[in-house]
Amino acid sequence: MSQKIRGVKGTRDVLPIDTYVKDEDPWVRVGHYHLVEQSARDLFPLYGYREARTPVLERTELFVRGIGEVTDIVGKEMYTFDDRGESVTLRPENTASLVRAYVEHNVNQQEPETKWWYAGPMFRRERQQRGRYRQFTQIGIEAFGSPGPRIDAEQVELLDRWLRVLGVPFEMHLNTLGDASCRPKYREALQAYLRSRAPELCEDCQKRIETNPIRVLDCKNPKCQEVAAAAPKMEQFLCEPCKVHFAGVQEMLQRLGVPFVVDPKLVRGLDYYTRTTYEAIATSGLGAQSTLAGGGRYDGLVKDLGGPDVPGIGFAAGVERLALLLAQEGKERATRPVVFIAPLGDAEAARADQLAQQLRAAGLAAEVSFRKSNPGNQLKRADTLGARFALVLGDQELKSDRAKLKELKTGAQHEVTLSGFADEVRKLTGGPR
Ligand code: HAM
Repeated sequence: MSQKIRGVKGTRDVLPIDTYVKDEDPWVRVGHYHLVEQSARDLFPLYGYREARTPVLERTELFVRGIGEVTDIVGKEMYTFDDRGESVTLRPENTASLVRAYVEHNVNQQEPETKWWYAGPMFRRERQQRGRYRQFTQIGIEAFGSPGPRIDAEQVELLDRWLRVLGVPFEMHLNTLGDASCRPKYREALQAYLRSRAPELCEDCQKRIETNPIRVLDCKNPKCQEVAAAAPKMEQFLCEPCKVHFAGVQEMLQRLGVPFVVDPKLVRGLDYYTRTTYEAIATSGLGAQSTLAGGGRYDGLVKDLGGPDVPGIGFAAGVERLALLLAQEGKERATRPVVFIAPLGDAEAARADQLAQQLRAAGLAAEVSFRKSNPGNQLKRADTLGARFALVLGDQELKSDRAKLKELKTGAQHEVTLSGFADEVRKLTGGPR
């Protein structure tokens, strides 16, 4: 036998059947993903977001300039390769890509405000862990052209509603990072403080003092956290417009009835943020990788990427993390057959195929058995597929045009005719699903 070929580390297969993924206790099926994806598709347009699709492959420069050279993502996690003299990268996130598309197609000249949503695979070469993969899926939104703070609150409310629709346990965290006029002063004060306590910090954070001091605030190392707890706070350095903006966001969230906590440690891992940042954090079920979604305002990014001076704000959620929580709670969106038809002989098989065709034409999901097996085994198969009804078709049924349709959950038997089968099933189910 030839040698098996295994999938790449950090990637995974999501199948319609139970598959055990290493490092994970629940079985994540495609039906859990469907629930996440369909709820976004239903909800986001209600807030005016329209879908945008951009390529998985972009020029490396886009992420270096967009996300920031000193971030972990650009520094060590990108899948970058030379494409005959041009450096290209598998997108590690989608905000930079959407900004590129927004600028490239002069979208601001066609509409003053733009709301886009997206879904798709992202790639980061991270250490694999439960809820952290090298290929993962994000669903996100971006809004261009609104300086806020109303749009900030509307996005947080959208995220809150979505997670409530999905029924996952979470807490909304909110912070502000200031802007180009006040953050540099904060950065300086923070740097001075961190330099004075440098020997207590982990190796990475000692480097961050000079490159990206704000990231020290969310380091998971307990010693760094101790140092961070006594660090100067952004709040003390906010300029008046940033203060007013942040107060506005909080006031509107209160008015919309959205619960949140202000979290000064919420600094995010990408460099493009200004002012509002927010994250939805799972309160149980996920362990270390518990951030379900994160985002914030990026008022300088469109300009930095060669576009007009247009503000932006958005978030992205990790679909795998949401799917894991749904799998744990046994919630999924699966299409199951309404009727499973098991013919016992060749003549019955031909009739079964026609009956299935009629059911499908009526909008009812039907499956026929293609295997010869005894009625007991056939019923077992119907049960595994999650069918609502099973029809065992024998010589007797064909001759009399009458059959018993078995409801699998209750065991109830419904008398039906084969000539009027689709109509009778439709009556029993109350119409196509
Ligand atoms: P991010 O915080 O890097 O933000 O990622 C957003 C979410 O993607 C995370 O909260 C997490 O759920 C999921 N995620 C990130 N990395 C992984 C991974 N390796 N495996 C599984 N899930 C992961 C962004 O990407 C920004 N573009 C969000 C944004 C949109 N900001 C403004 N607009």
